Formats: sequence, C-alpha cells, structure tokens
Amino acid sequence: MNTKTTVISQEELQGQFAYCDKIASYWQEKNRVPKAYVETYGCQQNEADSEKLRGYLCQCGYAIAGEAEGADVVIMNTCAIREHAEQRVFGNLGALTHTKRRHPEQKIFLCGCMAGETKVSDRIKKSYPHVDGVFSTHHLWQFPEILWNVLNQKKRQFYIADEPGSIAEGIAQVRDSKLKAWVSIMYGCNNFCTYCIVPYVRGRERSRRPENILKECRELIASGVKEITLLGQNVNSYGKDLDCGMDFADLLAEIARLPGDFLIRFMTSHPRDASEKLFDTMAKYPKIAKQLHLPFQSGSSRVLKAMNRHYDRETYLSKVRYAKNVMPDLVLTSDVIVGFPGETEAEFEETMSLIEKVRYDALFTFIFSPRPGTPAASMEDTTPKEEKNRRFDKLCAAQNAISEEIHKSYIGKTLRCLVDGREESLLTARTEGGRLVRFPGAEALIGTYQNITITGANTWSLTGERKKEEENGETSK
Ligand code: SAH
Ligand code: SF4
Ligand code: F3S
Repeated sequence: MNTKTTVISQEELQGQFAYCDKIASYWQEKNRVPKAYVETYGCQQNEADSEKLRGYLCQCGYAIAGEAEGADVVIMNTCAIREHAEQRVFGNLGALTHTKRRHPEQKIFLCGCMAGETKVSDRIKKSYPHVDGVFSTHHLWQFPEILWNVLNQKKRQFYIADEPGSIAEGIAQVRDSKLKAWVSIMYGCNNFCTYCIVPYVRGRERSRRPENILKECRELIASGVKEITLLGQNVNSYGKDLDCGMDFADLLAEIARLPGDFLIRFMTSHPRDASEKLFDTMAKYPKIAKQLHLPFQSGSSRVLKAMNRHYDRETYLSKVRYAKNVMPDLVLTSDVIVGFPGETEAEFEETMSLIEKVRYDALFTFIFSPRPGTPAASMEDTTPKEEKNRRFDKLCAAQNAISEEIHKSYIGKTLRCLVDGREESLLTARTEGGRLVRFPGAEALIGTYQNITITGANTWSLTGERKKEEENGETSK
C-alpha cells in the first residue's frame, strides 16, 4: 500500500471546476435543467462527503432531487462497516435497473467506502452493467471529471486505485441544514482495530490545516450555523501528521474562542488518545458541548486486546471517571460490539457490568460482522448466532432501562435547547448534550435557543414545555 498523502493543488481543483463548466454548458445546449439524487449510507463522514458531491453537482448545473426516479444522475454513497449495510446497497442498486429503464439517460454512480473494496468493484463490473461509474473516497474530488467522461465517452469509469488518500480544500458544499454543520477535520484511520474495514477503505490518517478548519468555522458561524460537529474517525489524533504544534484539544480551544453564539460537538474519540487535557478543555469552554462519544467496544480487557484497541477496561473506566469529574453534566454515549470471535459468556458479562458502572445516556450496539480482509474475519468464532442474539438482546434491554432512568431524571429541569425542526404538531430541539426534546410551539422558533422545562421522558427522548417569553430572556436568533 502506498502511504504518502496527496494534497490536491488548487490547479488540479481548477481543472475539476473546468469540467463543471463544461457539464453546465452541455445541459444548457440541451435547454434543460438536469436533476441529481444522492443517497447516503453510513456515518457522518459520508454525510459530509455527500454535501461536497451536491456542491459539485450544483456547480455542474444540476438541481438536487429527492428521489432516484426521473433523476439524470444517481449517486449511492455507500458504507462497508457491516455486511448488512452492504447487502442493503446491493439491493437498492439492483432496484435502479427499473428507474434506468424508465429513464435510459440516467447515469448511476457508486462511491463511498464500499467503492474502496476490490471485491465490490469487481462485482459491479461483472453483474451491475447499469452502473456507469465507481469511485472510492480518495477520488471524490475528481467527480466532475468522472461525470464528464461518462457523459461523453459513453464508457464506464472506475476510479478505484489504492491510494493513501488525499486532502482537497475548496470544494463547495451544499449542506443539508442551515443550523448544524459537519466539519471534517481529518480523514482516514491508522488504528487497524482487528474487526474494522475503515482503514482499508478510507486510507491513512491525514489532518486538514488548522487555518482551513478555522476559516470554514468562521464562515459557518457568520452564516448563522449554531452547531458545528467536528468529524474524524479518531479526532484525538488530530495534528499528529502535521507540523503545526497543535493537538485536538488546542484546535477545540481555538474554535471555542471564535466570537458568536454556537456549540461545538465532535466525534469520534478513541479512548486510547482521549487525554485529561481534552477533558479539561471541554470543561473550560462553554461553547464546547458537554457531550462525549467514547466507544468502548468491549468490557473485557482480553477482548480489547484481541480487537487491537490499545486500552484496557481499567484505563477506560479511569478516563470516564476523570471526564465525569470535571464535567458533572456530561452526556456520555458509546459503541459496543457483541459476539467478537472468542468472546465468552464471562467476557460478555464484563461488558454488561461496564455499562451498569458507566451508565451511558445512549449506546450504539452492534453484533460482530466479519469483514473480509480484516484480521478478525479469520479468527475462530464458535459462538452460535442464537447465542450472540441473546447477548445482544440482553445488553439492549439493560441499556434501554438505564437510558430511561437517566432521561426521567431530567423531569422538572429547565434546559437551554436549540430548536431544530418540526415533527407533526410538535417542534424538535436538542439539549446541549444532544438529547432530543419535543415540545409544542410556533414554527418561527426554529433556529433559536429556547429554555425548555422537561415534563416527560422515555428511553429515546424527552418532552417539555417552553418557558414563558419573559423567562426566556437569553433567547437568541
Ligand atoms: N472510528 C470510530 C468508529 C467508526 S465505526 C471508533 O473507533 O470509535 C462505528 C462503530 O461500528 C464502531 O465503533 C464499532 O462499534 C462498529 N463496528 C465497526 N466494525 C464492525 C464490525 N466488523 N462488526 C460490528 N460492528 C462494527
Ligand atoms: Fe475502525 Fe478502529 Fe479506526 Fe474506529 S479507530 S475507524 S473502529 S479502525
Ligand atoms: Fe461506514 Fe465508511 Fe462511515 S464504512 S461507518 S461510511 S467511514
């Protein structure tokens, strides 16, 4: 594997913008506004990439459509994290033969993490002739060129070369929300947890220059964005590949010092690199949300070692203790895998006891899914599927009870929340810790902070009432 990161030069990017112009003229000559649909699977990294693809598409003259039917371009931005995620994509990709039959001009692309797997591109080459182009995350910045080639050469395009990855600054983004924004601060991962495919499909860790990140944040705040979520597979190793004298905690502090009324969130933190400095920085700045997603994956030190996680149960617990100590209102969430190869009943019980000890606000639970090419996929795994399902159900039930108890303890409290949307007759809002609150109110409140008194709670969300106008003095638009 080639290991040198490529920074895409401004000339190279201008070359892509020239393709955008050519595509826009192509459609102008046809006297029609083409439509494009981007379907996103997987995590926030893909959401952020899709915003860049939409940016390029708009620059090429496309209007963004809400469905594949009738669209001139369909892009599937895919996730490879578990087998089930891949099966869903193949199912939906198969269904696109019908939309293409009804609209033969339709051009179909597959990108994202699955596009980084040779077995996937081989399968598309062989069995999905209606797919016009495949490009891995490393080649996203070349999308205008790929689209132009498909429109002109009428030949399928495969941009899938194995690369360590690139950084391209200056691709316009069409963002889903005016209130909340994703900001990728780094790409790729060096950790090679034994179960995980991400390092293989997203390449090596590479950090964006702090000045570029700060510029993007300043622009977002000026445009009215109220929540910025910094993204990376392991944000705590930010800057290690740069010679900028800044680590992730320093970057957070710089952003938190920008003027404006906004909150900063981030994900994901790898427990190995989560430092006291990080927790102290979070505690110090009011603009950094007191919310932490700190995946533990397993409560057993033996399993953690087999996962190549580089921390043990005790180290993890002591980091959590420190974080809770400096941030008593911390909302803590995590990821966990059940049924890792060789996980015994006793080791699973260690996971159970860890969640009882930590008491997460919410937990994302997964059954181990072997990913071909990763070390864990060839580890001996004798636990029957039914047994894994039983463990999974037991863990979910215990966590649901904990989440409900924590949520119930909010009742009677008044929390400052960002109103972010409407669901039927109620408005939706998020607490600083990221918990969902529903409450009655007028549409005009969307985009403002409101003080909401919590009146009800269940496992997943809270309900509340807005404090009266005069009590809501600190509300800002
Ligand atoms: N970079 C993040 C995680 C990204 S993937 C981190 O290190 O925390 C999101 C979650 O998917 C992981 O935390 C893990 O719990 C789960 N996951 C990853 N690979 C998996 C696999 N092969 N089977 C089941 N779950 C998996
Ligand atoms: Fe995957 Fe581990 Fe990297 Fe997270 S840190 S993306 S789980 S290899
Ligand atoms: Fe999936 Fe890729 Fe994210 S594999 S979870 S979309 S980094």
